[in-house]
Amino acid sequence: MRHFLTLNDFNKDELLSMLDLALELKVQALHGQVPPYLGGKVLAMIFEKSSTRTRVSFESGIYQLGGHGIFLSHKDIQLGRGEPIKDTARVISSMVDMVMMRTGAHERLEEFAEACSVPLINGLSDDFHPMQLMADYLTMIECGIYVPHFHALYPKEGRIPVVAYIGDGNNMAHSWINLAAILGFELRIATPEGYAPKDAILSRAQALCAQSGGKIIVGRDCKEAVSGANVVTTDTWASMGQEEQKKERERAFAGFCVDTAMMKLADSNAIFLHCLPAYRGQEVSEEVIDGAQSRVFREAQNRLHAQKGVMLYLARVNNIPLVRV
Ligand code: CP
Ligand code: NVA
Repeated sequence: MRHFLTLNDFNKDELLSMLDLALELKVQALHGQVPPYLGGKVLAMIFEKSSTRTRVSFESGIYQLGGHGIFLSHKDIQLGRGEPIKDTARVISSMVDMVMMRTGAHERLEEFAEACSVPLINGLSDDFHPMQLMADYLTMIECGIYVPHFHALYPKEGRIPVVAYIGDGNNMAHSWINLAAILGFELRIATPEGYAPKDAILSRAQALCAQSGGKIIVGRDCKEAVSGANVVTTDTWASMGQEEQKKERERAFAGFCVDTAMMKLADSNAIFLHCLPAYRGQEVSEEVIDGAQSRVFREAQNRLHAQKGVMLYLARVNNIPLVRV
């Protein structure tokens, strides 16, 4: 069974195939004609944390593909009352065709996957947010910023993009690290002291960079990180589950707000990305997120198409019978 728990579960060609599918499905959606490839299929969506984009993109996505999504809040299912993860996984996966789960500790997803008889998708864990990165790279491709490669849909020319990630070394930073290492682009991360990404995730990625041509630099200097970058991105300073650290983090992250002065140091055609939800005046200024270089709402809408591409790809590689159209 091929699950999608982190970007590392797939190689470059496989991730790009999912994005090809996503782009194809996006064009079809714009013409009001998404083929019902997953007709009659059911996706269970388990949420142990809040969500706007992930829930709506998966629920709309499976519906557009002809299937049906079941929203399961942990508050309403026995998992929230202590039913073992392995029992929940075994039962739910015996009744549906695919599962998406948003949780805290990444190990919870791994435990679920072990007992899950259908493909499992990570809808965010404390360590990774791979579905967001699929939409982010899709947005980069649409904006003409991508790693040049020999892939049918995109031109072969171009230069290796530089992405600057400013802020917390969290699940988003970790997934950017994985993507840079797999696809082979330059990622510069600037975090305050004590908020760097996890060493184990970084060193695994650095090893992969030797083959892919990727480059990952982690430091403390925002200016150095954004200098000439093609993409500037950030994330909330206090992620879900860190609400009680909000004040202390606001102090630690002073100087890490992506504002107009910071954007001026990037490439003049640079775009600004943010997974959302955003906190204006903290990790990003109002002027930047609502400004001409921001692509955050395109990025958010691309979640819908990226998620469809991922679900369709997982159905194909796991031999889930598709509706012939
Ligand atoms: N970016 C993202 O995953 O948003 P939600 O938390 O609203 O799903
Ligand atoms: N780092 C954030 C991402 C939200 C989509 C969090 O985990 O809350």
